[in-house]
Amino acid sequence: MSKIAIMGAMPEEVAPILEKLGQYKTTEYAGNKYYEATYNGVELVIAYSKIGKVFSTLTATTMIEHFGAKKLLFSGVAGAISSSLKVGDLIVATKLSQHDLDITAFGHPYGFVPEGAVYVEADKGMIKLSKEVASDMGKSVVEGIIATGDQFVANEDRKNWIGKEFSADALEMEGASVAVVCDALSVPFFILRAISDAADMDASFSFDEFLETSAVESAEFVMKMVDKVIAD
Ligand code: ADE
Repeated sequence: MSKIAIMGAMPEEVAPILEKLGQYKTTEYAGNKYYEATYNGVELVIAYSKIGKVFSTLTATTMIEHFGAKKLLFSGVAGAISSSLKVGDLIVATKLSQHDLDITAFGHPYGFVPEGAVYVEADKGMIKLSKEVASDMGKSVVEGIIATGDQFVANEDRKNWIGKEFSADALEMEGASVAVVCDALSVPFFILRAISDAADMDASFSFDEFLETSAVESAEFVMKMVDKVIAD
């Protein structure tokens, strides 16, 4: 089994994973720390990118091109768009889009640039495995569309616009950029998020309150996914 990358955006998102591994080697590279460990006989590289599309692009690329990861799993938190998603709920991305990518002035749809695509699809095999993990854990996980942008959304109108324009169920700040990198480099990827807030006027308070617990929910699930991927 080849090397697997596990990525988050914030320290809180990877801390539970490092805690579970216990022992790892730390390497500083390109302004971030990368943690390497062997887990059930498989090499892992773990990192948090810092927030946003640019930093997450750098980290995903580094994990693949420098550290040699052949699969990537992302763990983190998201704001809910769909009213059925509550704090702590888990969402698996089927496909992802950049909600703040806008050259509509030239007649293109939101989220599109020439030679790109509005959506990038996540790996179907790992999505299938996530259903088995959910049933093993007795947890419910929903599949949905995730919209990504360099904005912490704390505004009902903006949230609703993103929901409508991209049929998105949740939003965050890294998934689509990681998806673009993985797709371009032919690395299968899986993006999981636990809801921390509803991207409304209370979002920043909810985020601060639930970041840690939701990040743990997501990380526990992603580690079970890693077990499944290794066994697969
Ligand atoms: N990640 C978690 N909540 C978010 C929000 N409201 N906006 C952007 N990214 C988020």
